[in-house]
Amino acid sequence: MPGGAVVITGTADTSRIEAPVTVKAYLMCAFAAFGGIFFGYDTGWMGGVLGMPYFIRQYTGMAYPNVVYPDTGSDAYKAYKKTFHLTARDQSLTTSILSAGTFFGAIIAGDVADFIGRRLTIIMGCFIFSIGCILETASTGLALMTVGRLIAGGGVGFISAIIILYMSEIAPKKVRGALVAGYQFCITIGILLANCVVYATQNRDDTGSYRIPVAIQFLWAIILGTGLFILPESPRYFVKKGKLEKAAKALANVRGQPIDSEYIQDELAEIIANHEYEMSVIPQTNYIGGWTNCFKGSLTNGSSNVRRSILGILMQMMQQLTGINFIFYFGTVFFQSLGTISNPFLISLVTTLVNVCSTPISFYIIERLGRRTILIFGAMGMIVSQFIVGIIGVTAGKPEKNNHPAVSAMIAFICINIFFFATTWGPAAWVIVGEVFPLPIRSRGVGLSTASNWFWNCVSSFFRLNFTLYCINWFYQIIAVITPYLVGVEKHDANLGAKVFFMWGALCCISLTFAYFLVPETKGLSLEQIDKMLEESTPRTSARWVPHSTFAEDMGLTHKGVDLTHGHIGSTPPAEEVSHSINEKSAV
Ligand code: BGC
Repeated sequence: MPGGAVVITGTADTSRIEAPVTVKAYLMCAFAAFGGIFFGYDTGWMGGVLGMPYFIRQYTGMAYPNVVYPDTGSDAYKAYKKTFHLTARDQSLTTSILSAGTFFGAIIAGDVADFIGRRLTIIMGCFIFSIGCILETASTGLALMTVGRLIAGGGVGFISAIIILYMSEIAPKKVRGALVAGYQFCITIGILLANCVVYATQNRDDTGSYRIPVAIQFLWAIILGTGLFILPESPRYFVKKGKLEKAAKALANVRGQPIDSEYIQDELAEIIANHEYEMSVIPQTNYIGGWTNCFKGSLTNGSSNVRRSILGILMQMMQQLTGINFIFYFGTVFFQSLGTISNPFLISLVTTLVNVCSTPISFYIIERLGRRTILIFGAMGMIVSQFIVGIIGVTAGKPEKNNHPAVSAMIAFICINIFFFATTWGPAAWVIVGEVFPLPIRSRGVGLSTASNWFWNCVSSFFRLNFTLYCINWFYQIIAVITPYLVGVEKHDANLGAKVFFMWGALCCISLTFAYFLVPETKGLSLEQIDKMLEESTPRTSARWVPHSTFAEDMGLTHKGVDLTHGHIGSTPPAEEVSHSINEKSAV
């Protein structure tokens, strides 16, 4: 060891490129999944709050309908009640401003995570989120609420993107899919919690009605932020920064192994060799160059950066276009419009419970059957169930037929659709995004893909909102049972409601084609092996690919070794090698 330097060598044995894992290591990854709660809860509470009488009165200045018209059976009362809500513009603003914040938050976070590290970026996200939360809680008017939502959204963007990055980088390859699916599980719990809290406070006649659901979010920020102070940084981040000794310490911590264990040395050498290889293919230039790197390469080459970025961005877009959030955000109104269900909370509870209870199945099948397989089967399941809902909805389930069994069948198939989403596209989209990018562009790639999720979430929320208002209108007209003219409108609207499922079904056909032609199988491989697999196979042949060599061997680390102390390949640094040291090449 020249000059007291710590030198390690890699292995040519493909089965030794990851250290065995302890329970502590599993628990660390599982804790990080907690970040999903933010995602789910924050998207879940606003819809309920927007419908709260106290909130509407506070934010519009309108008096309660029963105060203006004490005769609640009168037409005047009903007509006034119809107008007792925030304007479409204000609803749209408060709903979509979160997505705007998350969109930009996710993109910025990609940069920040390469600069200060994954762990600190998530902690920073918790901090930003808390500021937004304070403003939201303090608000009594639209302006402050909107600013608060924007800032909180920025924090959620930080957290939602970088948790995926962090978990993918520290999780053991055999259970990486299952652990990242744990993040999706937390999203579903967040949505459920938001529904329950909003239900419990909705009828309060004070600011607690909306302040309690908003303020509860502090708890998530405190738990995640504090916990991450204790967790180690991602070793891959340190490798990217050329801090190899720190990388060794972090890896030893993450795997629960002594730092001088051969396993740790082999795994670290593999990560370093892969990074060296990627850096020789993707030279780091300046800041702008770093971003343009995400779109370099040929569109026909499955391992090019541009193809990986397209894969991540489209993966999240297709996940949103499965129509799942139509059910979660709009389901209540839709079910009401079917005419047989009177308790909207019960409906959201059923759909969110199906979502929560189905997701754990993915922990098993994502590792057993693989990401690609479950995406293909999941899309097929959603296509069938959505078309069935559509077909029943325009035939036996038409509201004017008042056919209870038909409506029950529609609801059952909507739940089956949620089941297929929750076990496949919900988790797998996040898992794939965390796996397919090479280290030099990984944080930006994950940031872009997460931003795509929020962008499409926002686009479809505009659609949802208009559709919701359309149906609310229709719903009141049904109740009023007035003129033949309205019966005409009623027919048209009823048809529109069910036809929406034909649209989601058709979009799922595109998701199926996308999964079949563009999504590779990544199960059981290390992030570095995925890199190699993408180079040597196509999405359709990827499942058959088996690792046959290590990066450490290919890059000569098995005999030259890596000097961790000075951050260069080879135990004695020749002058020209020093100038190309990992440290310098990795500088951002
Ligand atoms: C999606 C969210 C969706 C949630 C439902 C997530 O994977 O990105 O938009 O609301 O799943 O469980």
